[in-house]
Amino acid sequence: MTDSSNKPIDLTQPPGDDMVRVTFQPEGRTVEFKYGTLPYDHHGKPMSFLDVAENFGIFLDHACGGSCACTTCHIWVEEGADGLSAADDDELDRLDMAADPQLNSRLGCQAVITKPGSYVVEIPKWNRNYVSEGKPLTLAEN
Ligand code: FES
Repeated sequence: MTDSSNKPIDLTQPPGDDMVRVTFQPEGRTVEFKYGTLPYDHHGKPMSFLDVAENFGIFLDHACGGSCACTTCHIWVEEGADGLSAADDDELDRLDMAADPQLNSRLGCQAVITKPGSYVVEIPKWNRNYVSEGKPLTLAEN
């Protein structure tokens, strides 16, 4: 696990005051970067979990491109919910259609990290199976 400058992340210590640490479960991939410095990768809202994942090469499905028009980026927020933007009506309506919604469900492209701190999200099982295949089938088959 490395941060955006490729330095090892010391998981025995909390992140620095101005740092954001995000762990994607169940893979346990942790990334860290200084708050406010992540370049926008044009996937989902800036500083959304999808934006973070794309910046660090972590696969999080996003069939609609991050425009709140599908549920493929559905995640469960295990830690850090207080530091996230509130879900708007569009996101809540979309989550109603997601498989296995929970109280901590969010759309990875819409949940925006609003302050430094630690965040842990879990990618649901159906997406994990997808991930274990490496890449989206449409790409793998080409
Ligand atoms: S990628 Fe489609 S709703 Fe998030």
